[in-house]
Amino acid sequence: MTYFNEIIRLTKKYIEQLKADGVDRVVVSEKGKNMKKRKKNIADGKLKKLAEEIKNCKKCPLHKSRKNAVPGEGNPEAKLMFIGEGPGFDEDRLGRPFVGRSGQLLDKIILAMGMKREDVFIANIVKCHPMVDPSHPDERGNDRKPSSDEINGCISYLEKQIEIIKPKIICSLGSVSATTLTGISAPLGKLRGKFHDYYCSPRIHSGVSHANRIKLMPTFHPAALLRNPNWKKDAWEDMKKIMKEFNGKGKK
Ligand code: URA
Ligand code: SF4
Repeated sequence: MTYFNEIIRLTKKYIEQLKADGVDRVVVSEKGKNMKKRKKNIADGKLKKLAEEIKNCKKCPLHKSRKNAVPGEGNPEAKLMFIGEGPGFDEDRLGRPFVGRSGQLLDKIILAMGMKREDVFIANIVKCHPMVDPSHPDERGNDRKPSSDEINGCISYLEKQIEIIKPKIICSLGSVSATTLTGISAPLGKLRGKFHDYYCSPRIHSGVSHANRIKLMPTFHPAALLRNPNWKKDAWEDMKKIMKEFNGKGKK
């Protein structure tokens, strides 16, 4: 008799003995599975609480002209996070990140990487729409980059999101996201296409344990790819480097 058959024989014998002793139910613990679920629920709860805080935030003047704050959305345990610059017109309307033309291209990129939008987490450096003319929030084309004061005021929300999600890789989209997250003020052309280190809070390099280190790949913003389709090839090279790190296991 094989070892395996012997285990089955003894288990059967044990269950029969339990039955004879009057036991009519055996609860099989799903410890590992339940623990995973519980961890996901905890992360989800923390992200929701943070999103509520963001929606009520009045820390910087951007709150005055917003229709909706855009905290970000996606899998609370995502292995990959995409981080853009800040909400635009469509995002401000819906309170969701990357839902306009740039978002449609980002969705395509995610699909081409073998994932779905729900597998990743999508957020921005600032959570409210920076407008050139805040007195006309109903006009399209009223977008501008966030100022360094606005970034400094808002960045702790994103840092907390990263800390909760603990992604394996962050992909920053565009120059504002790349310079903010790398801490290097260089043109995007110098930063993109290679992995940098992002240190989960505190963002100080020395004295931080390596467990806090997350790989950061800066690439082009989808809006820039829509303006310059000839950059798409390079952007795809960047995505391939991310996929290689995941070895086909980027999904959740
Ligand atoms: N551009 C961004 O940087 N973020 C969005 O959410 C949408 C467009
Ligand atoms: Fe608050 Fe950030 Fe919105 Fe400014 S941009 S009001 S800091 S959530």
